[in-house]
Amino acid sequence: MAGYKGSIIVEGGRPLHGTVRVPAAKNSVLPLLAGVLLCGEPVRLRAVPRLADVEGCITLLQGAGLAARWENGDLLLSGSPVCSTLPGETAAQMRASILFCAPLLARLGRAETALPGGCRIGARPIDLHLEGLARMGAQELDAGPGRLVLTAPAGLHGAEITLRFPSVGATETLILAAVCAKGRTVLRGAAREPEIADLADFLNRCGGKIEGAGSSTVCIEGRRQLSGCVFSPLPDRIFASTLACAAAVAGGRVELAGCPPRLYAPVLEILEQMGCRVERSGKNACVSRYGSLKGVGRVFTGVYPGLATDAAPPLAAALLCAGGESSIEDVIFERRFGCAEGFLRLGGRVNVTGRTLHIRPLPPGQSLAGSRLVAPDLRGGAALVLAALAAEGKSEIRQAGYIDRGYADFTKILAGLGAQIRRETAPRAERVKKTPSKK
Ligand code: EPZ
Repeated sequence: MAGYKGSIIVEGGRPLHGTVRVPAAKNSVLPLLAGVLLCGEPVRLRAVPRLADVEGCITLLQGAGLAARWENGDLLLSGSPVCSTLPGETAAQMRASILFCAPLLARLGRAETALPGGCRIGARPIDLHLEGLARMGAQELDAGPGRLVLTAPAGLHGAEITLRFPSVGATETLILAAVCAKGRTVLRGAAREPEIADLADFLNRCGGKIEGAGSSTVCIEGRRQLSGCVFSPLPDRIFASTLACAAAVAGGRVELAGCPPRLYAPVLEILEQMGCRVERSGKNACVSRYGSLKGVGRVFTGVYPGLATDAAPPLAAALLCAGGESSIEDVIFERRFGCAEGFLRLGGRVNVTGRTLHIRPLPPGQSLAGSRLVAPDLRGGAALVLAALAAEGKSEIRQAGYIDRGYADFTKILAGLGAQIRRETAPRAERVKKTPSKK
């Protein structure tokens, strides 16, 4: 898309002060929306952030035949799926679209979609999803290039499945397939991310029978159909991680309210090792930084409860400002550090070898300098905004639409904390002068 929703303009050098309420998690809301396809009664999801990917999933649900509307920040969904083909253009833009196939198979015996898109942080195959669904009775038909067609003429049945990798999406797909399948499913080697347990809580609230979600073995007794419910998705640990790293980068004191610190403990502990002060209480964490930052040596991402891969780029932005060497290896995705190019343009001393971003300190007395940057993906784009907060002078981060996928009101939130930041929705070159009408 030309301009892809414009740019974010940052004037660096301002510390952050204030409190931010952490919104509901994108990576919980999206699978929950897929789960709504299984519900025979209306669903209200509370306080859902107006994210681009949420709007995309609403389009998928409407394409399947459901009704969706916003009411005071809640999302109300009703109706049952009547169309098994998802809107291709929207589906091709998001990774989450793959999650809508299992419920359509369960309800209609068929699912057709464009192969899922999403941030280009790696190959992101869907073989684990498809292998598990095949064991539950789904068949993949020969579809055109870029298309996926699955059928389950005899319906889906329970199975014993072991995932060779604890894929978050594949775990969610197989729980969504099993919750209304005939018989019992045992899923071993499942992902343990909190969003999995949140999905199971939602489905159980609608009458499902899922045990062990959040552990590596999940047992599901199939139900004929699910009812509906009112549900508040869990808070966004990646959003909280991003704002915590913003406090480390810009300096100052930021309180993150409504997200238990245990959900993003690795990030908070690394920030403490870097010299930040972290105060934890109940569902809140307060991150402050007034002195210089230290490097932390080798850091590795991992599956939950390890350091979340999505938090790696924002953490890299903080490490960019440290006085010592660090490196981050992302063991989950092969191309996580598309933001390295932007870091270099800001004057950062980084290089990528394989899956590892190496970060060296700036020469004494030197700081990052504002520059024109391009967001490479969702989390990389957020990391460039964070790094620009510490850069002297003005930076422009283009393709800001990537950031809208996972952060609602990102510039407004940072401006509210004291950052000098604004959004330019249409690139200057494309802004058409409004000529006064003749009449
Ligand atoms: C989910 O993606 C999240 N997205 C990602 O967040 C997150 O980074 C990821 O989980 C890991 O935590 C949503 O929840 C919408 P995976 P997903 O399946 O499900 C390989 C963000 O920025 N794999 O756990 O795609 C895959 O290639 C996004 O919010 C297969 O090989 O992650 C990757 O290397 C980015 N075959 C690894 O597993 C498969 O069938 C982890 O992928 C599936 C995955």
